Amino acid sequence: MIPLMKSTFANEKETRQALVEFITSAPRLSMDRECFQFEREFADWHQRRDSILFNSGGSANLAILMALKNLGRLKAGDRVGFTALTWSTNVMPIIQHGLAPVPLDVSPVTMNAMVEHVAKRLDEVDLQALFITNVLGFTGDLPALADLCRKRRILLLEDNCEALGTRLGGRLSGNFGLAASSSFFVAHHMSTIEGGMAITDDLDLGEMLRIVRANGWDRNLTSEQQAKWRARFDIPNEFEAKYAFYDLGFNLRPTEITGFLGRRQLKYLTEGVRLREENYHFLADVLCRNPIYLPLDRRHIERLSSFAFPVLCRTPQLREAAIKRFTEAGVEVRPMIAGNIQRQPFFRKYVSRVYDLPGADLIHDCGFYFGNYPELTRADLDLLAACLRA
Ligand SMILES: Cc1ncc(COP(=O)(O)O)c(C=O)c1O
Repeated sequence: MIPLMKSTFANEKETRQALVEFITSAPRLSMDRECFQFEREFADWHQRRDSILFNSGGSANLAILMALKNLGRLKAGDRVGFTALTWSTNVMPIIQHGLAPVPLDVSPVTMNAMVEHVAKRLDEVDLQALFITNVLGFTGDLPALADLCRKRRILLLEDNCEALGTRLGGRLSGNFGLAASSSFFVAHHMSTIEGGMAITDDLDLGEMLRIVRANGWDRNLTSEQQAKWRARFDIPNEFEAKYAFYDLGFNLRPTEITGFLGRRQLKYLTEGVRLREENYHFLADVLCRNPIYLPLDRRHIERLSSFAFPVLCRTPQLREAAIKRFTEAGVEVRPMIAGNIQRQPFFRKYVSRVYDLPGADLIHDCGFYFGNYPELTRADLDLLAACLRA
């Protein structure tokens, strides 16, 4: 059996043991120093000025858009382009915030929107923001996309929940736009069981993300920031400040367990990315020799941070046969994330306009993936290679 993942953590045994000790001895388990330290360490790892920890990647997405609305940089009705091949909680927050979701097609062989897909959509509609998804470690041509967004004054946001550690154009994915999200759900590149992060170089946005994360209050801001908010709203003293709520927010806080695990798992991230990429190259070499599959194009990517191996068959019938073959061999498989999101029930309920998205449709009908992680053994890799050869 080759499941989607074999363990909850990198270095599972030691991590679980350390977690037990932490829980039994930590003076406090709600968000505190471990979380704040993890934020600093993650920002350094990602070469970003600020990181804000959340209880999930979906929460980070929800909060990024809320913070931009609170700051007046987006307003209800603004059009937000997004990659049609994505995850539900990339698109749902666009709808939940009263923004207008505009799907962009993807190239089947990079699985992402390329600059020509965005340019084509911009010929028909103006976009105020672009919330792209970097799919399963792959990305579009982000340097060109970022240039286009700069020229057209479009806010670029990256949902990097599936591509933590991917590098292209000399930069990490997630570092091309105003902000990006990561997920630390189990089976992602690093796990805090549940958890997510927003990263940005924009300190005003970071400040607002902390307000959004916790009820709309100022508890986790610096003392200078707190003084600014309190003065602006004439909050007379510390007592009143405890329950002063400045703008729209949620409770999306992580716990100290998230921070504790994040700090420890971050130490293994770089090596984990390397091992997963090694597996990826081994399997991709096998896949590209079998004509029933469409090989993916990763020439624009310098380091592919893979946590699942995507397979694109040439027809739906070939996919059906391949899924049967993999499943019978004991390999756990999944659809290519949410496929063409326009075909999902929630999207059809809330959005009436339907775009022609042939690239996303091809992946929806012909794609699937299986897990790729450091714990795959030589025998596992040989079994996967045999399934890909058949
Ligand atoms: C592209 C993308 N965005 C957002 C998320 C949400 O992350 P989480 O499960 O941590 O909420 C996921 C989860 O897999 C994802 O793949």
